[in-house]
This record gives sequence, structure tokens and C-alpha cells, in this order.
Amino acid sequence: MIDQCGREINYMRMSVTELCNLRCRYCMPAEGIVKKSHDEMLTEDEMIRAVQAAASLGIRKLRITGGEPLIKKNIVSICRRAASVPGIEELCITTNGILLPSLAGPLREVGVKRLNISLDTLDPEKYRYISRCGELSQAIDGIHAALAEGFEKIKLNAVLIGGFNDDEIPALAELTRRYPLDMRFIELMPMDGNRDFGPDAYIPCTTVLDKLPEAVSEAADGGVARLYRLPGALGRIGLISPVSAHFCAACNRIRLTADGKLKPCLHSGDEYSLKGLDDAGMVREIERAIWRKPSWHGELDAANRSRSGRNMNQIGG
Ligand code: GTP
Ligand code: 5AD
Ligand code: SF4
Repeated sequence: MIDQCGREINYMRMSVTELCNLRCRYCMPAEGIVKKSHDEMLTEDEMIRAVQAAASLGIRKLRITGGEPLIKKNIVSICRRAASVPGIEELCITTNGILLPSLAGPLREVGVKRLNISLDTLDPEKYRYISRCGELSQAIDGIHAALAEGFEKIKLNAVLIGGFNDDEIPALAELTRRYPLDMRFIELMPMDGNRDFGPDAYIPCTTVLDKLPEAVSEAADGGVARLYRLPGALGRIGLISPVSAHFCAACNRIRLTADGKLKPCLHSGDEYSLKGLDDAGMVREIERAIWRKPSWHGELDAANRSRSGRNMNQIGG
């Protein structure tokens, strides 16, 4: 479906849980989150009906997000059913990778095509610090499990944080020479719950290019990243710059939260509830949300924080 700005909306990100087995500092507060009551959250059937309604309006790509989607007990069933919804051509997941050793196989089998996996650092101490509790070796095992299952185009996501991992840009980029993986650097987005980061933490993605003078530009693939490649590398380097160079004019996506709110823009407080609606009601509400999708997310920097009203774990990134 086309929105009032003429953008074709064909990609939905669906968060299946706000909960997570990590506590990344840029994503959620230290104390975690107040668990919402079961009744407030979408059921598996409601999620699938929402996917059907979205597909009937032209959604072709579905990305399952969280929190951490793989901690959801019925994740394989959700993916199996979502993959077979008529119109859905591509089913992808964004995960921290911790549970992939046991789930990569079953997810691939039910039709998940692509995985994006978070990897902010290659240093176990720093991994423990940024995730407040995680073990780097588990995430690395998860990445190897994904590679072994033969998923198409695995992408690694590093949130670029000044003074934390900017010194690891060459080492992270080097992974693309050894493995058929894209390594993407994402500018830190200022949310309500990550106010602890000082102004120095917000560095533009162009820093990556300063550290990788040999990187050569490549054609974009329709996603939000600008792409580069190191000479002879198997995978690409991606730069995602929501802060320094927003990509709203080309935005093709909507988001559905685990509590059933359709968010037409990541950084806007606008929400349209699908919880409790019948099929026709869901189609009407999604249509309304897409039509009214904001033209851009407004100023976004350390001084002008996201107006989303939620932290990332409650949206799905
Ligand atoms: P591909 O399908 O591989 O293109 O995935 P993706 O980049 O859409 O998804 P992923 O979940 O890996 O997101 C990577 C980063 O981009 C996360 O930090 C997201 O928050 C951010 N991102 C994704 N979509 C948007 C968007 O519409 N606006 C903004 N500002 N950031 C986004
Ligand atoms: N800024 C940028 N990216 C973020 N993510 C989570 N919180 C933020 C933030 N504040 C990323 C995660 C994951 C993706 C879904 O969103 O690293 O890769
Ligand atoms: Fe969990 Fe991902 Fe948020 Fe980290 S960024 S706390 S892994 S949802």
C-alpha cells in the first residue's frame, strides 16, 4: 500500500516479546522491564491474523523481532505459520544469537530465510559490560550455528558507540574477509531509557570509513544500509545512519509491538491498537496507520531524543 507521502509500504517488523535474555545498555534499562500482563499481549493467533491483514495490504517482507524473539516458547510455530501466509515472500529474524545453537536448524526448516545477529564487540569483557550479563562465546556459537545452517545473507549488527567499540571497527570489519557475512555499523539512537550515554557516544557512521580507507562503495540492496566492501572480502560493510542522515523519505516499513500496537514510525508516539480486533478491523486499522505514516521522525540527536515513548526492546528496533 502507498502512504500519503507516496512511499510504498511493503515491510513489517513484528515484535513477539518485550523480554530478553540480555540487558543491552542502549536498548533497555538496567532493572529490565515491568512484565505486562498476559492479556495485554497479542496471542499467537492474533499475530498470525495481523500478518494476514498486513499481507492483504501489500506487506511482502516480515521481520520477527523482540526483545529477543528466540526466548518466545512458540517461536518456531509463529515462524512456520507466518512463513505460509499468502503474500509473505521473505521471513527474517533479528536476534542476539544466544539461542541459535539449538534454534537455527528448526527456524531454517520452517521457512526463515535470513538472520540479522547483534555483535557489538569481540572482547568478552566489553560484551559483558554492554549487555550487562551476556557471554560473548554464546553469541559467537550462535553465529557459527547460523552459518552452518546455510541461511541466506547473514548480517551482523554493531551499534557504534564512541569510546566503546570505535576502536574495534577494523577487527569487526575483518570478519567479512573470513566469513560470508555482512557487518553493519548502526548509529546509536537516543531513546528514553538510554540517557546514560554522554554526547561523545554519538558518533557518525562516517567514522567507519575513516578507519577503513580501503573500503569500496557498492550498490544499495534496498535496505537501510549504505554498502561497502573490503578488497577480496566475502561479505559487505553496511552503514546505518538514522541520526546523521535519516532515511525516512525511502522508509518502507511499519512495526507491530508485542502488545499489539502498530507503529507507523519508530520515533513517533503514534500507535494504532490491533489487540482484540476482528480480521476486517485489523485491515482497517493497518490501512489507517500506513496512510498516516509520519513523513520523517523529526530531529534526532543526543539533545532531541526519540519521541517513541518506548525503549527499543518494546519496539523491536
Ligand atoms: P534488512 O532486512 O537486513 O535490511 O534488516 P534491517 O536493517 O531492516 O533490520 P535490523 O533488525 O537488522 O535493524 C538494524 C538496525 O536498523 C536497528 O538498529 C534498527 O533499529 C535500525 N532500523 C531498522 N529500520 C529502521 C527505521 O525504519 N528507522 C530507523 N531510524 N532505524 C531503523
Ligand atoms: N540505537 C541503535 N540500534 C539499536 N538497537 C537496539 N537499540 C538501539 C539503539 N538505541 C539495535 C540492536 C539490534 C537491532 C534490532 O536494534 O543492536 O541489532
Ligand atoms: Fe536484548 Fe537485543 Fe535489546 Fe540487547 S539489543 S537487550 S539483545 S533486545
